[in-house]
Amino acid sequence: MLRTHTCGELRKKHVGETVTLSGWVRRVRDLGGLVFIDLRDRYGVTQVVVEPQNKDSFNVAKKLNSQDVIQVNGTVRPRPEDMVNPELATGEIEVLVSEIWVLNESKTPPFPIEDETKASEETRLRWRFLDLRRPVMQKNIILKHKFMQAVRNFLSQEGFIEIETPFLTKSTPEGARDFIVPSRIYPGKFYALPQSPQLYKQILMVSGFDRYFQIVRCFRDEDLRADRQPEFTQIDLEMSFVDVDDVLSLVERMMKQVLGEVMGIDIEIPFMRLSYHEAIRRFGIDKPDLRFGMELEDLTEHFKDTDFRVLKSVVVDGGKVVGIKVPVSISRKEIDELTEFVKKQGAGGLLWFKFDNGKLSGQLSKYVKFSPEGAGTYLIIADKAPKVFKIAGLLRLEVAKKYDLIEKGLKFLWIVDFPLYEINEETGELEPAHHMFTHPKEEHIKFLDSDPLKVIAKQYDLVLNGVELASGSIRVHNRQLQEKIMEKIGFTKERMESRFGFLLEALEYGAPPHGGIAVGFDRFVAIFAGRETIRDVIPFPKTTKAQALFEGAPSSVDEAQLRELHIKIIHEENENGKETQEEKEIR
Ligand code: AMO
Repeated sequence: MLRTHTCGELRKKHVGETVTLSGWVRRVRDLGGLVFIDLRDRYGVTQVVVEPQNKDSFNVAKKLNSQDVIQVNGTVRPRPEDMVNPELATGEIEVLVSEIWVLNESKTPPFPIEDETKASEETRLRWRFLDLRRPVMQKNIILKHKFMQAVRNFLSQEGFIEIETPFLTKSTPEGARDFIVPSRIYPGKFYALPQSPQLYKQILMVSGFDRYFQIVRCFRDEDLRADRQPEFTQIDLEMSFVDVDDVLSLVERMMKQVLGEVMGIDIEIPFMRLSYHEAIRRFGIDKPDLRFGMELEDLTEHFKDTDFRVLKSVVVDGGKVVGIKVPVSISRKEIDELTEFVKKQGAGGLLWFKFDNGKLSGQLSKYVKFSPEGAGTYLIIADKAPKVFKIAGLLRLEVAKKYDLIEKGLKFLWIVDFPLYEINEETGELEPAHHMFTHPKEEHIKFLDSDPLKVIAKQYDLVLNGVELASGSIRVHNRQLQEKIMEKIGFTKERMESRFGFLLEALEYGAPPHGGIAVGFDRFVAIFAGRETIRDVIPFPKTTKAQALFEGAPSSVDEAQLRELHIKIIHEENENGKETQEEKEIR
């Protein structure tokens, strides 16, 4: 037997027992002739003691290095009173070694295998198998497992069926680029990896499964950030014969049960709801962080007849003046930094004045005719709407972070009533705000022709502490309406048929009213693991440059493999006619 107990298991009640433990050497200390080994595995750490009388074992123990894998036989004994470690679950006992074996040696790891690390993320990802041996990383991955189990239990209880959908499929547009997979059998044809199981889950409703879920990998070739990976996991679900309230209530109950079970947190439901337009007006963003106030104030009326020229010209041009009341006296130097910040976001500049219990001072003070309570600094931006709200919203976040104004806690909220369409800022064209399978509010269908931007959709996003956690909608279940929505964004009948013919056809065979949602599972776990990036809850993530550093992907493949797939690589050359450094690295 390689072990009788794990390294986290032994307690006072085991004193006197003969045990076998296996694990990794965390630390070896040679103290006054005794050798102490901290032996670790996933479950914890146990102190192991080797006495010099036990010559063979003692000689082995003295030579051990951190991360060697060993097995020990020994007897559990109580630690002397003054050696008890209350921080450690096994802190009341130690194991006195009778025999010790080295099962495998370890080279010196490139960084210490401890919770705190100074290693760069690049180094950690290059040596991911060691990074994942750090207890904190194991905790994150295990937490993810627990959430997964709790979600499965909850949804199964609620009558949902877990159904797999294909990875080798046809492109499912969610606004990102597809990863495509060449077909060997059909030259020049490609599968696409799904950006989400959107179309399949809708089809499953048409098939009559009524309630579907899947904890599923999605693939999107988009620019990466702390909360975005090219492959990530969703809790994806779909329900038949439901409207908005049914889906929201289901998700609220899921969050309550799962967080209660896994984290022991009791959250209050139902969550607050804000319409998209109200969120933009009050917070300048569709995923507001409600852990702090500083709501945007529309001061346009106040500065309507001002003598301050910059403000006046914006107001005369139909623009808006938006203020944030910051409860901090901001220095001139910091005002300059914040001005740089808003300029980067596209604002002309930042206006400000200070207030201190009735007294005003600073740049705009002469032109202000109200007297804010308390003390602090008003920051003001004037520009066209909605741009001015968006920039003020970003400023609100920046200021909250800079001055540590974000309180602890969980602020869930739903954003509802999104517009069905929006204008793409780059192309100037109409595009779906969520995706094109979203149902418009019934009373807005009539605006589809006359004023599509006015159409409000049955879409909802779940936001937690400023993070978009989930997004979903009630779907279109009628072919004519679906075609009309596609037509508005420039789809010809041929294109509808070639890309979504299978869905349109299914809608003609008794598609029930249905809707669903997908929770970004990595983002969810990262929040509750207290991590800044979802890379810390994904065992083998990609870097922000989309590389897998540990196994080395993407990588080149053999000529023969390419030939079989009918693929020829064209190396793009830069201005100097050379391969770019990045291309070289990837090759
Ligand atoms: P959406 O595209 O909004 O909706 O995705 C749902 C949720 O998935 C998370 N998410 C991501 N997480 C990590 N990395 C990414 N690259 C990434 N992209 C998205 C977000 C997001 O809220 N089919 C629809 C759902 C539906 O309508 O039912 C969809 O995929 O937390």
